[in-house]
Amino acid sequence: MATEPEARPFWRDIVRTKSVERSIADAGEPEHSLRRSLSALDLTVFGVGVVIGTGIFVLTGTAAKNHAGPAVALSFATAGVVCALAALCYAEFASTIPVAGSAYTFAYSTIGELPAWIIGWDLVLELALGSAVVAVGWSGYVQSLLASGGVTLPHALSGAETGGWSFNLPAVLIVLLLTGILVIGVHLSAEITRVIVAIKVTVVLIVIVAGLFFVKAANYHPYLPPAEEAAAGTGGKAPLVQVLFGYTPTDFGVMGIFTAAAVVFFAFIGFDVVATAAEETRNPQRDMPRGIIASLLICTLLYMLVATVVTGMQKYTRLSDDAPLSDAFKAVGQHAFADIIDVGAVAGLTSVTMILLLGQSRVFFAMSRDGLLPRTFSTVNPRLGTPSHALTMLGLVVAVMAGLIPLEELSELVNIGTLFAFIVVSVGVVVLRRTRPDLPRAFRCPWVPTLPVLSVLASLWLMLNLPVATWWRFLVWLVIGLGVYFLYGRRHSRLRLPAAPFPRRED
Ligand code: ALA
Repeated sequence: MATEPEARPFWRDIVRTKSVERSIADAGEPEHSLRRSLSALDLTVFGVGVVIGTGIFVLTGTAAKNHAGPAVALSFATAGVVCALAALCYAEFASTIPVAGSAYTFAYSTIGELPAWIIGWDLVLELALGSAVVAVGWSGYVQSLLASGGVTLPHALSGAETGGWSFNLPAVLIVLLLTGILVIGVHLSAEITRVIVAIKVTVVLIVIVAGLFFVKAANYHPYLPPAEEAAAGTGGKAPLVQVLFGYTPTDFGVMGIFTAAAVVFFAFIGFDVVATAAEETRNPQRDMPRGIIASLLICTLLYMLVATVVTGMQKYTRLSDDAPLSDAFKAVGQHAFADIIDVGAVAGLTSVTMILLLGQSRVFFAMSRDGLLPRTFSTVNPRLGTPSHALTMLGLVVAVMAGLIPLEELSELVNIGTLFAFIVVSVGVVVLRRTRPDLPRAFRCPWVPTLPVLSVLASLWLMLNLPVATWWRFLVWLVIGLGVYFLYGRRHSRLRLPAAPFPRRED
């Protein structure tokens, strides 16, 4: 018989951890487990598919023009190093606990149920909100392509943020279409991702190779433009580091490289989503670390090359804010290349939107299997092998967000949500080494605890550079999450009933 749950003091509930063995055993529940079909190559393609998107196709221009000049390539390298520190921690976890849920599952095994819940709730910012933000970016690119073909959407359906309220029809349609593909199966999504990734990597390589012919050495002078104090943000727009410590970030010069790194960090978001697919991987212990690290390395290299070429093609002061890559080609009279790049950007943003959605559904899946969310989120469609209910509900919510809410202001929440997850995973690696030194670790993060500590400090630094308003929104989101946990999750957690079998649908 199960023990009487209400007799337990609440603090014991929130610090309880779920053993690694139990996490792995739960993943074997027939009705609540996912099909294992992905290889290391699939994971790398997933990683590249979710990473290359808005960051390189859009943010390169702003980062170079306003913060780092031609040295923006070094900003990409810096952001890449911050992510590599976290990636090594993710790789160790994913090879030790190869279960859906990523940072949420890792936190549950190490720090406790409440922190795990908070991180799962926090991941909504990276994954669901990120997916909606990128879908809106996708819509912008598609409308600009349509406009060059002479087709303009009526204002009311364009999602334009000026000139009165408007519904973003293209963003809604792409989210619904991608949800349908994800429901049909991870295999189909992987096939489509492969095609899209081939297109976007080809386009990125075209930018690098074709762009080389238009590089002028003069555009690299000065490589590090003279440092200047960043335009002081005021009120909610000021970075937290300025409000707390009076440090005003610098643009250009050596410190400008770091200021720009905080901007281009968005370009790397997603490599960690590879870890959410652990349960669908054929040999996760071996292939998870490979997929995570390979996708990060490939993207960092491509980003540095693209940034170097583009700032060589056009003086950094003239790069465009909206479409710096294609506009650099237009500036040298290469309109055909510019169109190809726009198509690549549309393809790129499509797979980013899709894989972020996929990642979100897998995190909800894991939380639901643990009882912290209603169990419909972890019901696997027996025919399709996917969590079709979770995906459908999620797709509808993300579509509504993308269609109705002006997301530009909220996009920095995606960064803060991701960085917070990096910190929890890095701390978790150190904790699990101490609490469970016996566990087999197919991949071991080097230099523990030094490397995870550096990872925490680097992520914290980027978080401190985010505006105060973003921090407030983040805190409000976490407080709402706490409310949901105490009203629902704490009472329904499967860990309250240690020996209870997973409830069947007919129960
Ligand atoms: N890294 C993804 C992008 O740049 C989120 O769009």
